[in-house]
Amino acid sequence: MARDIVIWPNKVLTTETKPVTDFGPELEKLLEEMLESLKEADGIGIAANQVGVSLRCAWVGREDGTFFEIINPEVLDKSGPVTLEEGCLSVPDQFEKTPRSHKVKVKYQDRKGEWQELEAEGRLAHVLQHEIDHLDGHVFVERLSNLKRSLILEKMKKLQKALKRQGKE
Ligand code: CO
Repeated sequence: MARDIVIWPNKVLTTETKPVTDFGPELEKLLEEMLESLKEADGIGIAANQVGVSLRCAWVGREDGTFFEIINPEVLDKSGPVTLEEGCLSVPDQFEKTPRSHKVKVKYQDRKGEWQELEAEGRLAHVLQHEIDHLDGHVFVERLSNLKRSLILEKMKKLQKALKRQGKE
């Protein structure tokens, strides 16, 4: 079953997630539920803390529309500063140009616990940076100017209140 997506600035989104140590059926189940939430919301990536679970795993979307899981990821290298339009399922309907790197080299474990290394550029690099930021307890809004950040914060607080009234939060 898909899990509800948490709205920023919920504390689980601003707290660094814990490393995954148990590569068993519970992790498989969490990953499946995250993928359902991701597809339901029509997103290109999702981190575990976006469904309220503080664990270092996420799904990343490839340009061909398929997804792969990254567990305990680390950025090994990045280069080529770029500014790209960015949005987030936890910050609904807000899209802003955000500073990122064009290329990124990462290592991560797959669901079996095997270590993988990946060099990516363009959109894939962008999604990797966004999801790893989530796992470190950061959302893209923190990379924007103070003014933009406070405007978005106000909108999200209103949204949270509205959701609470509907009994969804
Ligand atoms: Co996001």
